[in-house]
Amino acid sequence: MKNAMVMIQMKGITKTYHIGDMAVAVLKGVDLEVAPGEMVAIIGESGGGKSTLMNIIGFLDTPSSGSYWFEDQDASHLTDNQLAVIRNQKIGFVFQQFNLLPRLTALDNVCLPLVYRGVPHPQRREIAKQLLEQVGMGQRMTHHPPELSGGQQQRVAIARALAGKPALILADEPTGALDSQVSQEIMDLFKGLNSEQKITTILVTHDPNVGRQCQRTVRMADGRLSEV
Ligand SMILES: Nc1ncnc2c1ncn2[C@@H]1O[C@H](COP(=O)(O)OP(=O)(O)O)[C@@H](O)[C@H]1O
Ligand SMILES: [Mg+2]
Repeated sequence: MKNAMVMIQMKGITKTYHIGDMAVAVLKGVDLEVAPGEMVAIIGESGGGKSTLMNIIGFLDTPSSGSYWFEDQDASHLTDNQLAVIRNQKIGFVFQQFNLLPRLTALDNVCLPLVYRGVPHPQRREIAKQLLEQVGMGQRMTHHPPELSGGQQQRVAIARALAGKPALILADEPTGALDSQVSQEIMDLFKGLNSEQKITTILVTHDPNVGRQCQRTVRMADGRLSEV
């Protein structure tokens, strides 16, 4: 049993990509601790490895070396199936380009993670409706993503991330494609989820104004993280 006050504990995480015979060391020893309920911003130069780290935190990718404990479990000792369970049941992802399915309505996009979880049809529609209302999209449920503005699409994407009742939201430049006013609305939504529902949030951003609104900021530089 490790420290219950820590959700994420990374030590010496490295990631090296091999392209042909060339090795590119992207992460060179990342240390990171995140407590449950925290809201942390990750900043740093483009190409510095922020998305690579987010993918590792979210079990979409594995590190080359180092230790990663998530809620008292040593990730290196988990099978692919166990990692998929954590990914699906504990983590909600939000991306810069929203990544909604264009042919599905907003409602069906939010339902999709619940389909994978085996939630029956009438129930998942009810949950998705409530979530869309919660993110201010109650009037747009039958719209398709191409009929929505960027800010509206991001709201739908956030509702989709919430569908699995995640303990952790990973948002990789969630306001990167939005103008400053809409950016602020999306930040207000994340801040509300964090303060009211205690959802731990890690958010990558280029925008100092976004970073300033998180409790804590860490900077990625030279393949490592340091507190700002
Ligand atoms: N799958 C991959 N294969 C090879 N190189 C990659 C791969 N993913 C990312 N990289 C490289 O790793 C570096 C860091 O990328 P990334 O994590 O996307 O940085 P950031 O999100 O900070 O902009 C870049 O040089 C990128 O080209
Ligand atoms: Mg990136």
